[in-house]
Amino acid sequence: MSRSQHKRFKIKDKAELLRQAGKLAVDVPFSNDIGVLFTPIDIAGRRVPNRFAVQPMEGCDSEFDGSPGELTFRRYRRFAAGGSGLIWFEATAVAPEGRANPAQLCISNANVDAFRRLVEQTRAVARESMGDAHGVLLILQLTHAGRYCRPDGTPRPVIAHHSAILDPPMGIAPAHPLISDEELDRLREAYLSAAELAAAAGFDGVDVKACHGYLVSELLASFTRTNSRYGGSFENRARLLLEVAARIREKVPGIFVTSRISAHDGIPHPYGFGADAAEPPAEDLAEPKELARRLHTPGCPLLNVSIGNPYYNPHYGRPFDLPIAGAKPPNEHPLVGVARLLRITAELQHAVPDLPIVGTGYSWLRHLFPNVGAAVVGSGKAAFVGLGRQAFAYPDCVKDLAEKGALIPEKTCVGCSGCTQIMRDGGSTGCIVRDREIYGEQYRTGRRP
Ligand SMILES: Cc1cc2nc3c(=O)[nH]c(=O)nc-3n(C[C@H](O)[C@H](O)[C@H](O)COP(=O)(O)O)c2cc1C
Repeated sequence: MSRSQHKRFKIKDKAELLRQAGKLAVDVPFSNDIGVLFTPIDIAGRRVPNRFAVQPMEGCDSEFDGSPGELTFRRYRRFAAGGSGLIWFEATAVAPEGRANPAQLCISNANVDAFRRLVEQTRAVARESMGDAHGVLLILQLTHAGRYCRPDGTPRPVIAHHSAILDPPMGIAPAHPLISDEELDRLREAYLSAAELAAAAGFDGVDVKACHGYLVSELLASFTRTNSRYGGSFENRARLLLEVAARIREKVPGIFVTSRISAHDGIPHPYGFGADAAEPPAEDLAEPKELARRLHTPGCPLLNVSIGNPYYNPHYGRPFDLPIAGAKPPNEHPLVGVARLLRITAELQHAVPDLPIVGTGYSWLRHLFPNVGAAVVGSGKAAFVGLGRQAFAYPDCVKDLAEKGALIPEKTCVGCSGCTQIMRDGGSTGCIVRDREIYGEQYRTGRRP
């Protein structure tokens, strides 16, 4: 049996990183000068002070009514104080039945004031920590969890197509009904109402989430959905996303619209978006690029690119050292995963050079991420370095970089998947290593039989 390609992080410096990348025959750029990450950029008339973005990260810590809870406020205070120019708020359901877990944020008329307080707190803490000129850009991610709906803690899948890949492990029977066109039409209205509420709460933008296999993402891959205005052709599969984006632009003044898309699901055709039909599992980015071009309108000043499905191929979207309990590590070096994310993002950025893209895939690089990010941004392969798990582990990493010129290796994410594990176990999530007092306990509670 051949040895697994998967390895834990053991890279000390630039020379080792480049040697490892060379050995694996992947492109991972590196810049000694990280100054470009501290250059401002204008997005929709707002000056964003730097090129760091906190990626959307569900904390699973809302109140029963979907409003932000105490730990939600704490997480965003830490992100805000940390100095990123852009904070992309986590997946927030547009309707209670579309939640991925009972503690997922869900915006409504009844709780919009709590979201307003969260926005006000985030802006105030960012200014307090980084100075009055630090105008942080705030985006709310709007979602319907689709096949991953668990609004009351039990799976209640809402599917757009049957998938020979994803249905069997989830126990979804062939007779399970698909969400109808009429229900999808109604959902457009739910997105519009949620966007109106987000504007009232004070967010700068809303993201019509189209990544990671949730409903709008699944629609993009609904090749086998027949006799439907939402399946088959590219026009139909992209319809919900593009129509919702257009309606928000038209009807909700004062807020811009964007999307986080999975440019490549890593799931073979005809069940995955951005998949090469002739050569699975290779990507074919023609459609994702066309989608980016269609989204690129004056009302959509930004795009966030991710890949993969966290339930099916988590190493695609979040390269790690350790998998969650019961899962085997993939037979792939995490640096290959990082390079895939960088390459696909660069290809999309190349297709829409005037549309700033937020890139993903930096946390596994630990203390070396700023140098890789600077090389990416400096060469126009993305406009922002997006941080997911790193923001949980090391929320003040941008401030440290600005003030000390380097990161403290002992504070970085270690790619242990502890945050994902808590989420899968039904707890409130964060970093079990660097924020142990709170999340160590959440982890242990969730792991108890
Ligand atoms: C616990 C957890 C929650 C997440 N929640 C979201 C989410 O709400 N929306 C989203 O688009 N991605 C979500 N992600 C994915 C991250 O935004 C990010 O793409 C991923 O962690 C890879 O980036 P990283 O390598 O910097 O961690 C989540 C990831 C984790 C680990």
